[in-house]
Amino acid sequence: MPILSRIPKRVRVVEVGPRDGLQNEPTRVASHNKISFINALSEAGLRVIETTSFVSPKAVPQMADAGDVMLGITPYPGVCYPVLVPNERGYDRARESGCTAIALFTAASEQFSQKNVNATIAETFQRFAPIAQRAREDGVWVRGYVSTATDCPYSGHVDPEDAIRVAERLIELGCDEVALADTVGLATPKRLGELLERACARLPVTRLALHLHDTGGLALANVIIGLDYGVTTFDAAAGGLGGCPFAPGAPGNLATERLLKLLHGLGIDTGIDETRVADAIEQLHAAYPELGRRNAA
Ligand code: HMG
Ligand code: MG
Repeated sequence: MPILSRIPKRVRVVEVGPRDGLQNEPTRVASHNKISFINALSEAGLRVIETTSFVSPKAVPQMADAGDVMLGITPYPGVCYPVLVPNERGYDRARESGCTAIALFTAASEQFSQKNVNATIAETFQRFAPIAQRAREDGVWVRGYVSTATDCPYSGHVDPEDAIRVAERLIELGCDEVALADTVGLATPKRLGELLERACARLPVTRLALHLHDTGGLALANVIIGLDYGVTTFDAAAGGLGGCPFAPGAPGNLATERLLKLLHGLGIDTGIDETRVADAIEQLHAAYPELGRRNAA
């Protein structure tokens, strides 16, 4: 059956630019510029905008103003503003800033987990248990991330089974959605397809998202593979900014503008205005022309 006959009518795009996009930039973007960027993305029609992270400011100084950003944005009706939370301290800070959606993040590779959060994968789940319990009581929406779902910057190709086991544990923990992340942006359509073949057999595809970095230039091809398996949630960052400070060599996320061009070109509705996304990133670039320069190199 041709793929065009089974693509979805509508896709949900999760904008991660304000968080993943800015966490790895050497330039410290001022809180008021971050706030204008997020408001412009809300106006462009994005309905999920990962806004910031309540991580240790020693680990990621670019996100040290998480509370100011969260309290400074204009919450648009119907828009969800998740924030990254690594531990209970992060959850407390997020709640004090009015957050009603969080993202817990762990990995399929032990080496990456150690570098990223100074913990084994098992220890990340020990940290998550009380947060998940409190989130349930507080009515907070929870996303879970499986970083290095296909490749690890330290140990190479990752066994799909390792990624799926972590995804299953996140669902068991109570995550509403689990994002399988190609942290280094080196997944090939074949290897992503092998992961999704097994993941979709064991987990509801409606609760899976793909978070693709674009180092190898295959992120859009990987989106097509995702669509073919029935995935309808894709992450992207305006301007293709982004990367994890603890994943060397992995600069950019899939650019929101490129993702929208593909989806709209396939006749898929997103509810997002491409021109206004371009305006949002242009406005940020006007203040900080150097942003994303490493990604383009
Ligand atoms: P640690 O050093 O093992 O923890 O860090 P600790 O508990 O010993 O804390 C160290 C210091 O940080 C202490 O301060 C704590 O109070 C403070 P000190 O006493 O030295 O002054 N601290 C905090 N401060 C504010 N908020 C907090 C917090 N927690 C501790 N929440 C820790 C462990 C997890 C905290 C640290 O390693 C960390 O914050 N890591 C975050 C790393 C990160 O943000 N990585 C990027 C996001 S993940 C990503 O990009 C991947 C993704 O995009 C998907 C993909 O592409 O793969 C999601
Ligand atoms: Mg990422």
